[in-house]
Amino acid sequence: MAQILQPTPENLDRLTTALADGEIAAVPTETVYGLAGNALDPQAIARIYEAKGRPARNPLIVHIEDLGQLEQIAQPSELANRLADAFWPGPLTLILPKRPSVSDSVTASLDTVAVRMPAHPIYRQLAERCPFPIAAPSANPFGYVSPTKAEHVKEQMEDKIDWILDGGPCERGIESTILSLADPQQPTLLRHGSISSEQLEDVLGLKIHTPDTRAADKGQNLPSPGLMKRHYSPNTPVNLFEGQAPESSSSSAIVFINSASCSKPNHFALSEDGELEEVARKLYDLLQELDHQSFEGIYMELPKDIGTGTAIRDRMHRAAAR
Ligand code: TXA
Ligand code: MG
Repeated sequence: MAQILQPTPENLDRLTTALADGEIAAVPTETVYGLAGNALDPQAIARIYEAKGRPARNPLIVHIEDLGQLEQIAQPSELANRLADAFWPGPLTLILPKRPSVSDSVTASLDTVAVRMPAHPIYRQLAERCPFPIAAPSANPFGYVSPTKAEHVKEQMEDKIDWILDGGPCERGIESTILSLADPQQPTLLRHGSISSEQLEDVLGLKIHTPDTRAADKGQNLPSPGLMKRHYSPNTPVNLFEGQAPESSSSSAIVFINSASCSKPNHFALSEDGELEEVARKLYDLLQELDHQSFEGIYMELPKDIGTGTAIRDRMHRAAAR
């Protein structure tokens, strides 16, 4: 039975011991909650895959605490160092050539590893205590909406894990931006997030390649398994709209970007006045809340395709995919 732990020094010590012993625990990060285990312990890695029900071909992100740990697991490069300087700790994951210390089970036998340095202050207090890098995919069952609160993890993973460290609601609310530097000649965006490709291009002084996700739609040669069309999905069917809200009965929920558009009990808003950071923060929380009510469907308004709006649209399209 999953137990929610408050981030007291005693509980952080207790979790550190548990992780060192090969156990796993859900932990807060600034993006979404992660399911954490010692990245260098095959038993912990096996437990993560099992608890998530994640296919073995879908590799894990490894969280590092400092650049020393980066050296330990990946071959850093000039480009990686520049991005690390600009965006770490923060919501950016880099795909880099891996070192032999990282086992094939973490990387699904790829010769690259996904690395991120989270910024959440409570996460960092835990990571500072752990003398090993921490593998942490999002703490949801495979394919479902990512958790952005300790309570979401408890609902989703109740009988799969023992510990959930409570760090409050996640500040960003959507998963990190993923950039592959596997081929340094062609930095490639694998997942949109709150750090935009323009921000990355500014730091790199290079054009970033964005793969054609239509190939992913057809299930062909995914550059990242995370590009699957259906992902982050509630059980209730999701439909998307732009402009005019669809005519529908009160048995469906209608979700607007702006609270000003709400006028009925089945209307919900993702923000007060359309601020995209707020929309991102609230998206998964509202999807999970609505999924627990008895709506036949959820209609969601797409935000504009700029800044964080691009990442939000990406998650909404995946949530709506069948
Ligand atoms: O914000 C985040 O990134 C959160 C927090 C907890 O850090 N983590 C997260 O992990 O979203 P996960 O496992 O749910 O998503 C990571 C994605 C997966 O889709 C995986 O396929 C992809 O990263 N990935 C991992 N290693 C990879 C690699 N070597 N090459 C390409 N894609 C990789
Ligand atoms: Mg995930």
